[in-house]
Amino acid sequence: MDVKVMKKKVLLGICGGIAAYKCCELVRLLKKAGHQVNVVMTQAATDFVSPTTFQALSGEPVLLDTHDAAGGNGMAHINLSRQTDVMLIAPASANTLAKIAHGMADNLLTTLVAARTCPLAVAPAMNVQMWNNPANQRNLALLRQDQIKILGPAVGEQACGETGSGRMLEAAELAELLADVWTLPVLAGKRVLITTGATFEAIDPVRGITNISSGQMGMALARACRAAGASVSLVYGQINTSVAAGLAYTEQAVSADSMLNAVERLLPQQDVFISVAAVADYKVKNRSVQKLKKQPGQAVPVIELTENADILATVAGRPDAPFCVGFAAESEHVLEHARAKRLKKGVPLLVANDVSQAMGKTTNQVILLDDEQETALPQMSKADTAAAIVERLAQLLP
Ligand SMILES: Cc1cc2nc3c(=O)[nH]c(=O)nc-3n(C[C@H](O)[C@H](O)[C@H](O)COP(=O)(O)O)c2cc1C
Repeated sequence: MDVKVMKKKVLLGICGGIAAYKCCELVRLLKKAGHQVNVVMTQAATDFVSPTTFQALSGEPVLLDTHDAAGGNGMAHINLSRQTDVMLIAPASANTLAKIAHGMADNLLTTLVAARTCPLAVAPAMNVQMWNNPANQRNLALLRQDQIKILGPAVGEQACGETGSGRMLEAAELAELLADVWTLPVLAGKRVLITTGATFEAIDPVRGITNISSGQMGMALARACRAAGASVSLVYGQINTSVAAGLAYTEQAVSADSMLNAVERLLPQQDVFISVAAVADYKVKNRSVQKLKKQPGQAVPVIELTENADILATVAGRPDAPFCVGFAAESEHVLEHARAKRLKKGVPLLVANDVSQAMGKTTNQVILLDDEQETALPQMSKADTAAAIVERLAQLLP
């Protein structure tokens, strides 16, 4: 199985809008993720943030107009677009959106768009009335027809003091959603439900039994499924990571019972169920309504446990079960336990890992087990692991 190399050459076009300031953080995040970032600014954009700032942050010269010298033949509009994997315009002004919708090429940015061979995403940012303006909406419809991906905008308070649609997405969301632009849409049209994180079983109002799962692997899978075109619903317990952007639905459910309820409620619409959450096997039978107090001279309280339902086995055992993907986190004899678990729970694809290599860490090393093969993947980031799981999932789906 191929291991994806996700480092890309990103061409970031910046237009004249207040949200240009968010691009300082965006460039920093894209660089941190290992991408090369080349910035092209419109003349209006330079009124908002200095090119010097983007030059320092990107480590590359910032290009401003068609006649900037960018190589021997002086044709920056061709050279730059050929060396690029993906173009993002953020903030995309109403003016520039109108121009690219109609194929205009009157500055370096719009000329690069017209001459490009790579995918393009735009992150509009403008006042709510400009956003709702019929001409702007007509232009957006044209851009969608041309397979240009529109990221956002968000709804909220605007720099002008008005409230509504037109806020540019935050830098972290844009950095995350950009992966969708270059990922093959192998799960297009599929609906995927994912659980992630640790469950929490209350002992009393302030104490409980939980585990060290951070939710990162499930979150990486949510991102990978979304990037591959799926509509993703996510049910998460306690997590130590941020919730993925651009998901169809998210809900927090911290106890095993509430997680099962949420999953069963969402299940009828799903094609795939991926169970990543580290669900407690047991819950507290004698949960105290009041906070347990230390009683000097009295016996230590005894916590009685009772078994939780197995969410994955419950879902996989339903007559209308979606395609189920399970995780087996083992601390010893990983492969034998995983093989047995896959057969016992009736799960077509199982991801086995050694807990000591995965839980709470940013990397993972897994083996994928299905009816046809067992594939050992190298130790790699959870994002790369998730992309490899999605690739296999797409091959196995009917
Ligand atoms: C203070 C200020 C803020 C502006 N903010 C926006 C904005 O958020 N979105 C937008 O589409 N235009 C905004 N404009 C208008 C654009 O800067 C103007 O349409 C410009 O021609 C855009 O040029 P460009 O598309 O080449 O960058 C703003 C103008 C000013 C003076």
